[in-house]
Amino acid sequence: MKTIAAFILSVALAAPAFAAEPMAGPRKMGHGVSVARGHDVFIELCALCHGVKGKGDGPRSTYFHKDQYIPDLTIEGFVEGRDAELLTHIREGLQRLDEPQLAMPQFKYILAEDDIKSVLAYIKTLPAKAKK
Ligand code: HEC
Repeated sequence: MKTIAAFILSVALAAPAFAAEPMAGPRKMGHGVSVARGHDVFIELCALCHGVKGKGDGPRSTYFHKDQYIPDLTIEGFVEGRDAELLTHIREGLQRLDEPQLAMPQFKYILAEDDIKSVLAYIKTLPAKAKK
């Protein structure tokens, strides 16, 4: 019992340290545009739905209906040749079905513009990674 109490106390004491810096740094400017930064943003904010490898199988995907899917970003060509459109969808979100809970959220209030570009640069590396 003492051990459990000590554990809970240590978690409670450690929590404020996490709370001070909850995310890898989205919202903050000055990270520049890079695939490495995009990876961090993706794991932090996108993998929940899209899955760590971008296959659309993140934990949140279990809430989606059969006819609504989270797209597999690793499909060859899916994220190629439409940067402007994809940037808009990441900024503004996307909702092809009526149910609001089945939408791709908008990130323009959460992410700095550089981070939006970085995360696009990162997802464009996913098809090649999936082939390995
Ligand atoms: C709450 C779950 C969820 C999260 C979190 C999420 N997405 Fe999505 N994403 C979706 C869904 C659902 C769709 C398909 C929406 C549709 O077709 O109506 C989608 C679609 C997309 C598409 C395809 C858009 C197109 O035009 O084909 C891209 C690219 C994408 N998401 C990138 C991201 C990025 C980058 C992040 C993180 C910054 C992210 N998503 C976070 C659920 C999510």
